[in-house]
Amino acid sequence: MVPPLRERLSTAGQEHLLDALDRIDASGRERLAAQLEAIDLERIGRLFRELTQDGAVDVTGLEAPDVIPLPTDEAGLASEREAREAGEALLRANRVAAVLVAGGQGTRLGFDGPKGAFPFAPITGRILFAHHAAKIAAARHRYGCDLPWYVMTSPQNDVETRELFTRHGWFGLEEGSVRILVQGTMPAVDRSTGRILLEAPDRVATSPDGHGGLFPALARNGLLAEMRDRGVETFFTFQVDNPLARVARPAFLGAHALAHAEMSNVVVRKLSPDERMGVVARRDGRTILVEYSDLPEELARARDRDGALIYWAGSIAVHAVDLALAERITADGGGLPFHAAIKPVPHVDDAGRLVAPDGPNAVKFESFIFDALPLATRVCSLEAAREDEFSPIKNADGADSPATARRDLNRLHARWLEAAGVDVPRDGAGEPAVDIEIDPRYATSVAELKTRIPAGFRVTGPTVLEPRTG
Ligand code: UD1
Repeated sequence: MVPPLRERLSTAGQEHLLDALDRIDASGRERLAAQLEAIDLERIGRLFRELTQDGAVDVTGLEAPDVIPLPTDEAGLASEREAREAGEALLRANRVAAVLVAGGQGTRLGFDGPKGAFPFAPITGRILFAHHAAKIAAARHRYGCDLPWYVMTSPQNDVETRELFTRHGWFGLEEGSVRILVQGTMPAVDRSTGRILLEAPDRVATSPDGHGGLFPALARNGLLAEMRDRGVETFFTFQVDNPLARVARPAFLGAHALAHAEMSNVVVRKLSPDERMGVVARRDGRTILVEYSDLPEELARARDRDGALIYWAGSIAVHAVDLALAERITADGGGLPFHAAIKPVPHVDDAGRLVAPDGPNAVKFESFIFDALPLATRVCSLEAAREDEFSPIKNADGADSPATARRDLNRLHARWLEAAGVDVPRDGAGEPAVDIEIDPRYATSVAELKTRIPAGFRVTGPTVLEPRTG
């Protein structure tokens, strides 16, 4: 029999919560007790001990990654073509679903609201969700497939996200073809004592359980079963903050399938050793991803005999995951291992007063999708061209900001137009002199652009190419 809550709190070293329960009125007590009942106190204690007191992530025995490089010759191009055709066949056969992780809080960007609501587009002010939805619509149309879309939110932004999708008519997608699911949360604990923090006298301080929470969230909501029923074999995951993400790119899905991989990655060459990207590596014969914060500087800077970075393969957080792997991970209510992140968390003190910490005072527990890599029977990592696929919006300014994402999208669109035979005015520095937006439903490649662009089309000022333009 499970012991009563008060006894469990004492055993787990969380006696301060007994006082907290005694301090509040009956209805508050009921609310707080219900939240505490739902927490696996023993597990929180164990995670705190293991993750904060037993040292950093072990990176001994790390080796260079195994990556399919960008094609540079005829053979490479032929393999890419073969992969593209295999991926297109999977899409046409409705074997693929798309999953967007959008549960993050966007703290660094300083944007108030779900990051997907960020208006990144330079001319139309289109928001990230609308842009990703247009890519889903384009792929559905191009391959005549269902491509069901799953969007993961967190309790922090779920209501707003649902409201956005509803208000914008599901961004032109059929309502039932998009499923929004909420990831779980984990309690935050004091970084030196492991005591569970309260954000209000009757409320535990919780935070999203990391994008690795996707696996249990899909399972809990019956969505892995739903994918299985629909005949989906592989789901493609991407992050809300990267407007350049090539959603369900056939060459990647095909490379994954042809390699008989259970999970795959897209990587780009890191710009510098200290770029904040997780790197793909091998350890004990398995592919793993080491987060930038866990990679010691001497490894981040390590070079091979030719002077090239050994850990050059930066993850753009795009994956293909086989349903079989997700089912195995979540069997018996399981999930991925947790990491500890030390962050500032406002909380109430022992007298019930709200305290704003003056530094990182708490541990948040998060799991990461990429920790599924070493659990896969086989992994395939594919190199992509950064300028085609990756320019995330993470910070308010500087690197990885709205300005750099707009610049990179503009450059990409200018290159496409030029390759399709359209002159694009350029400034003295060689940059496109005007803003150009190409709606993914209009074209997502040069080949498609060539079939859509009206004869004699000229770029003379800010240019938006949308389905009705052509
Ligand atoms: C992430 C990767 C990093 C990669 C880089 C590429 C992690 C831990 N690190 O860094 O390896 O090179 O992107 O851009 O992922 N999210 C949730 N729920 C959560 C937390 C995050 O859905 O609980 C989503 C966010 O909405 C976002 C994505 O995950 O779409 C990335 O999260 P973020 O914390 O910004 O990761 P980065 O540190 O930028």
